[in-house]
Amino acid sequence: MPYLIGIDIGTSSTKSVLMDEAGVVLAVAQQETGISTPRPGWAEQDPETWWRATCGTLKKVLSASRVDPKTIAGVGLSGQMHGTVLLGKDHRVLRPAILWADGRSAEQCRRIYERVGPEQLARWTANPVAPGFMAASLLWLKEHEPEIFEKTAVALLPKDYVRWRLTESLASDVSDAAGTLLFDVAHRRWSEELLRALDLPDGLFPKVLESSQIAGTVGRKASEQTGLSVGTPVVAGAGDQAAAAVGNGIIKPGTMLSTIGTGGQLFAPLSGPVYDPKLRTHTFCHAVPDRWFMMGAILSAGLSLRWFRDRIAGKSYEQLSGEAARVPPGSEGLIFLPYLIGERTPYMDPKARGVFFGLGLHHTLGHLVRAIMEGVAFALRDALLIFREFGVRTDRIVVSGGGARSPVWRQIQADVFRSEVARVHGEERAGIGAAMLAGIGTGVFESFEDACRKAVRTEACTPPIAANVERYDRLYDVFHGLYPKLKDDFVRLDA
Ligand code: XUL
Repeated sequence: MPYLIGIDIGTSSTKSVLMDEAGVVLAVAQQETGISTPRPGWAEQDPETWWRATCGTLKKVLSASRVDPKTIAGVGLSGQMHGTVLLGKDHRVLRPAILWADGRSAEQCRRIYERVGPEQLARWTANPVAPGFMAASLLWLKEHEPEIFEKTAVALLPKDYVRWRLTESLASDVSDAAGTLLFDVAHRRWSEELLRALDLPDGLFPKVLESSQIAGTVGRKASEQTGLSVGTPVVAGAGDQAAAAVGNGIIKPGTMLSTIGTGGQLFAPLSGPVYDPKLRTHTFCHAVPDRWFMMGAILSAGLSLRWFRDRIAGKSYEQLSGEAARVPPGSEGLIFLPYLIGERTPYMDPKARGVFFGLGLHHTLGHLVRAIMEGVAFALRDALLIFREFGVRTDRIVVSGGGARSPVWRQIQADVFRSEVARVHGEERAGIGAAMLAGIGTGVFESFEDACRKAVRTEACTPPIAANVERYDRLYDVFHGLYPKLKDDFVRLDA
């Protein structure tokens, strides 16, 4: 019986998942990977920690499942997107990776807009640029660490570095390459035009494959370190958003995924590279050939509740969720703007900050928690309404991430989205999506549809409640009107 492995190089941990050909998960292992912040707002990781966590978790899933490594048909990867790993001529790492959550390159983003112009940028890449995206990080490195930039022979995304260690072949995949902002998303190739405009050498970037294509096979050294067999095929894999979408069965237009993890994302597959010319959302290549996706990305989703739990409430998520359940929908007139670390969709404003609006003497801890949950759902509704402008809609949204575990938050999402929401059975959907890609690329699964039929099981749906929908419609209008009124004050506050 052939088995499959998916490795998810996340930001806070690396996870490996071992699955059989029927889509049943036999073992999962996780190893934490710390972030270093050499300066406030910076976020770096040593790529070696991903490799160690990959080796550690692979050994664990192999031993826990007692599967013979020779029966592993393929390995797939999922990874935190946008980050930058630099390798020298000898292919050694030159400095710690600059992650997607790193804010040092705000000035470089401004200059990209200045040099290229937002309309041209949208035409070339279909995307806004944000600090921490490879385009901005490379320009920062060129300016602030020219000696390292000079020595750089290859620039890789996080999961592509791990694949390099596994197979000693250099590659990327279309879904992750799209998130560098150096990629021509419509034509699924590096954007020669933009590289030229930004004066970046195109020789720095590896070849790009479709996500389920085989990129290489496990080498001898990697085999010794991981326990995998020499010659095991490794597919290109995908950025974590596209991999998680595959793992949740979100492969066709007309389906949609709402994820509340640290950040929050609304994800909708597209049959063509439709993009928002106002650059409020992202359009990236999907892990499915000939498909793209539109994505709204909010920065503090679960992070808002984690902040409140750790810094203010000092209670568990279950307790907080229980308190929120006792408060009526709408939090009796309390609204929360979840912009604790700035916002991406729809405002692309690093200076925005969190707000509780409408506080009164009647408000309790439960009201604050519920307002946070509702504010996150409202922020995702901002993305949903942008999607609608492009005719992207659905009547059922799959919810995923830690936020989907809370029944209150699931109901809030159904009511605020005015849509039934459903959940897929089992966690680690990005790792499972990566294993599915490996199965598709090695012929264990006939197609994406076949992989989804086997590995994705949807649990009961939560329908919206009519009375709540109406109340949330009215509150959303207030929510949506607040940012434009506060925009200039956020800038003044920052100064
Ligand atoms: C997507 C994004 C995050 C990272 C880290 O645009 O910024 O999801 O991929 O997980």
